[in-house]
Amino acid sequence: MKPKVLVTHELLPEAMEFLREQADVELGTSDVQLPHQDLLAKMSDKEGLLPLLVDKIDREVIDRAPRLRIIANCAAGYNNIDLDYARQKGILVTNTPGVLTESTAELTVALILAVLRRIPQADRFVRDKKFKGWALDFWLGKDLAGAKLGIVGFGRIGRAVAARAAALGAEILYHDPERASTDVERSLKATFLPLEDLLRTADIVSIHAALTPETHHLLSRERLTMMKKDAVLVNVARGQIVDEKALAEALAGGRLWGAGLDVYEREPEIEEKLLSLDNVVLLPHIGSATYSTRLRIAMTAARNLMQGLSGETPENLVS
Ligand code: GLV
Repeated sequence: MKPKVLVTHELLPEAMEFLREQADVELGTSDVQLPHQDLLAKMSDKEGLLPLLVDKIDREVIDRAPRLRIIANCAAGYNNIDLDYARQKGILVTNTPGVLTESTAELTVALILAVLRRIPQADRFVRDKKFKGWALDFWLGKDLAGAKLGIVGFGRIGRAVAARAAALGAEILYHDPERASTDVERSLKATFLPLEDLLRTADIVSIHAALTPETHHLLSRERLTMMKKDAVLVNVARGQIVDEKALAEALAGGRLWGAGLDVYEREPEIEEKLLSLDNVVLLPHIGSATYSTRLRIAMTAARNLMQGLSGETPENLVS
């Protein structure tokens, strides 16, 4: 008999096909998100669960699933899962690291450049038929070449951003609780700094840390005030790492030059003030959103799930 699994949201067709060949798949929803109550109601007979990063897999979900053996998260981040409780219950948890590094790094560089050169705002200007001719002092932005880029969180994605930005002429600073090896620092021409020194020095701060209790509001109101007045903050990691209200106030009060956000503290809700500001570029959590990468993510999660259910050690075991 095929194992019963819940896939909370429709995946790309190849991944659904792969899963349906090997498992008895129940689909949570084709809508944007599966309501928590519906998720709870579907857990009692499931041995495997493949959630998206928007599905909160808390104690209650786990307690409703006495047969659950594996949670295969369809994301690199896994802050949506109560890892300790899953571990306590002997349930495996997997994620999808590695397959989204390049796409997320590319989006980061695109977002940095979009903020520095105000590309979305300039596009709106043209569409509003306000472009009346070239002028020397028109739409003046900032260069990435020569800028000090401070990377907070120097894992796979942070390093991939460093390589790309260095190729464009940025000077790379980084902070991470674990300092990189001398070889890595040398090959990426990256200089380690304590966090607060990095915030005081960088022209652009880009966040690539995982969300953990230690990184919640790592960019607190107080730390945001340490950044240079003409600096830019970019976050493609997790919204809760930045105090979003304090950031909106800093941007509105001219205490920061600009920001680029792909993630939000109370996603999909966005701090109201941000929506009316012209010095922030807002994206809908699309860091890894290319077809081939999202397919790799879905296939990796699906393979992890089936490996766990067949008794093998899944490739991307978190715990
Ligand atoms: C995306 O945000 C991910 O964690 O995969």
